[in-house]
Amino acid sequence: MNQFYAFPKPITWGAATASYQIEGAAHADGRSPCIWDAFCAQPGRVLNGDSGIIACDHYHRMEEDVKLMADMGLQAYRFSVAWPRIFPDGDGRPNPKGLDFYNRLVDCLLRHGIEPWMTMYHWDLPQVLLERFGGWQSKETAKLLGDFAGYVAQHLCDRVKNVFTVNEIFCFTEYSYRLGVQAPGLVLPRKQANQVTHNGCLGHGYALQAIRQNAPSDVKIGFTENTAIYQPIWETPEHIEAARKATKAANYNIVDVLANGFYDPAFLAREGADAPEFNDEEMKLIGAPVDFAGLNIYDCLYAEAADNPEGYRMVPTTEAYPKFDVPFVKVGPQKLYWGIRHYKELWGYDNIVIGESGVACDDHMNTDGEVLDTDRTMYLRSTFMDAHRAVSEGYPLNAFFVWSLMDNFEWVYGYSKRFGMVYVNYTTQERTVKLSGKYYSNVIRENAVL
Ligand code: NOJ
Repeated sequence: MNQFYAFPKPITWGAATASYQIEGAAHADGRSPCIWDAFCAQPGRVLNGDSGIIACDHYHRMEEDVKLMADMGLQAYRFSVAWPRIFPDGDGRPNPKGLDFYNRLVDCLLRHGIEPWMTMYHWDLPQVLLERFGGWQSKETAKLLGDFAGYVAQHLCDRVKNVFTVNEIFCFTEYSYRLGVQAPGLVLPRKQANQVTHNGCLGHGYALQAIRQNAPSDVKIGFTENTAIYQPIWETPEHIEAARKATKAANYNIVDVLANGFYDPAFLAREGADAPEFNDEEMKLIGAPVDFAGLNIYDCLYAEAADNPEGYRMVPTTEAYPKFDVPFVKVGPQKLYWGIRHYKELWGYDNIVIGESGVACDDHMNTDGEVLDTDRTMYLRSTFMDAHRAVSEGYPLNAFFVWSLMDNFEWVYGYSKRFGMVYVNYTTQERTVKLSGKYYSNVIRENAVL
């Protein structure tokens, strides 16, 4: 074993997926359509007109997929629960067949010695709630997320001990209702868009409360966010301070609010009449303490000290800056380290989880039936080095989920982008562990960067 890069403490090593991206079986067992089904059906929204109707057909292949995870040596698996399977009407009467799938999944994971980590909301909002209230435009959606999460917790949290309320508020609010690039594809005026993001945070708050109240046994609850993380352009005190200021400012309407339970007065003043409507009760829910904070890290951002009122300046990456098969995943040998460190130093989180880290690569199977994704393998190695540095310096990283277990429906990119450590042949649904997956198995076994 490589002693030098052995982690000084155990880390929970896992892989992540999300319901809409892998399950398929869109019409099975009473599931109702979600906003992504409707969005995919609109011409021009998703590359090649792809959708999650079949995806990796995980719904029907769950046992074999869990067996694969066990063979890879995964210690934990992060999956999400499809709201339209459990409450096809968004609320009201639960669908027992929907719950049954997750019951079987959880039992199967536990039988294989894999810890289930469950995400309550990973973007597949029941379409009926978009039609009824405009989706996240209404606080009703936030409340109903609470009801859904409470119900799921009541039935699964006798066995599931770690729960994420929501995945990436930024994506399901800002990208979806302000920028219009993800489902439901709306471009709302400023005031409404600010309200949507507030409502997303509130959804986290309601879910957090409901899971605590309904889980039959002790459960750890957190969120995971694609927090904008600025690294210092190089590590001298003035640039480190600049990166801290830039990171705090960039996360003004999500992580900073979840951590503090209040909006930065400068944000409220800046937005004036366009500021979101909220009350003290809501801010209490939003700011309630979590047991862990998750970081999903893809982009690579730099800041440097500057002689201006903010005290920092962003340093853009060049056109040719090394990136992977999607423009938003860039090489960043220190980004994960700084993400962990900012979580602790800026917001005081003392149980930090990497909810997602991974890359899209142009993977191909060779004539020997192998997928030699050296690029992904090296990327993983670099982020594990970062994690190693953070842990060695005493920052509280405890679990790490690679995105993703297997290739899947990459939202607006459809199936054209592959993020998996397991290659999926979408014609035959055959799974093949890539080089990166084999590498990861070794890392897990040794709890060391190899
Ligand atoms: C974040 C999202 O949570 C996940 O669904 C997505 O596939 C990855 N990023 C890669 O874009």
